[in-house]
Amino acid sequence: DEDPRLHGIKTKIRVVPHFPKSGREVLTFLGLAGIMFQDITTLLLDPKAFKDTIDLFVERYKGKNISVVAGIEARGFIFGPPIALAIGAKFVPLRKPKKLPGKVISQEYILEYGRDCLEMHVGAVEAGERAIVVDDLIATGGTLCAAMDLLERVGAEVVECACVIELPELKGRERLNGKPLYVLVEYL
Ligand code: PRP
Repeated sequence: DEDPRLHGIKTKIRVVPHFPKSGREVLTFLGLAGIMFQDITTLLLDPKAFKDTIDLFVERYKGKNISVVAGIEARGFIFGPPIALAIGAKFVPLRKPKKLPGKVISQEYILEYGRDCLEMHVGAVEAGERAIVVDDLIATGGTLCAAMDLLERVGAEVVECACVIELPELKGRERLNGKPLYVLVEYL
C-alpha cells in the first residue's frame, strides 16, 4: 500500500520536455530526443510536499546508525542537508571538479555523452562510517556509482542510495552493483 504522501509529491514534480536544449542535437543522434527533464523546483515551492519528501527519507534512515549523508551537486544539496540534520548525521558535499578548496579525491564517470567527475574532501569521511548518498534523480546511475566509489575508497560503508525520482527505463538500478536504491517516485 502506497504512502498517501507519495501522490502529492509526484504531482508537484514538473516534467519539461526536451531540456536542456544545449544537448539536443547529441541527444537526437543517440535516439534520446524525447528526454523529459524532471524539474524538482516546483516541488520545493510547495512546503507540504517538500516536507513530506524529507520526512519520508528521515523516517527510513533515523535510528539506523548513519553518520554521513553525502549529497551530489547540485540538487543533492537541496535534499541532503535537511535529512542529515534530522537524523543527526554530517552532510558531505560531493562536488563537480575544482569547486572544493581542500585536498580532494576524484572519481570520473561516463555520461550519455562525454564524461564528468565528482570530488570529495579528504578527511570529510572516515573509514568505517555508515553513509547514504542523496540526489534528486537516478537516470543511468553513473553519478551514483561515482559517489559510492568515492565513499568506499575512503573505507566508508554505503548503506543505501536515496533519490526522489527514478527513470526505470534507463536501468540505472542495474548499474549499482547490488547496492540498495530507495526512490519515492518512478517516472515511466
Ligand atoms: C542530474 C541529476 C543527477 C544525474 C543523474 O544531474 O541531478 O545528479 O543527472 O544522471 P545519471 O544517473 O545518468 O548519472 P545533472 O547532470 O543535471 O547535473 P547538475 O545537478 O549539476 O545540474
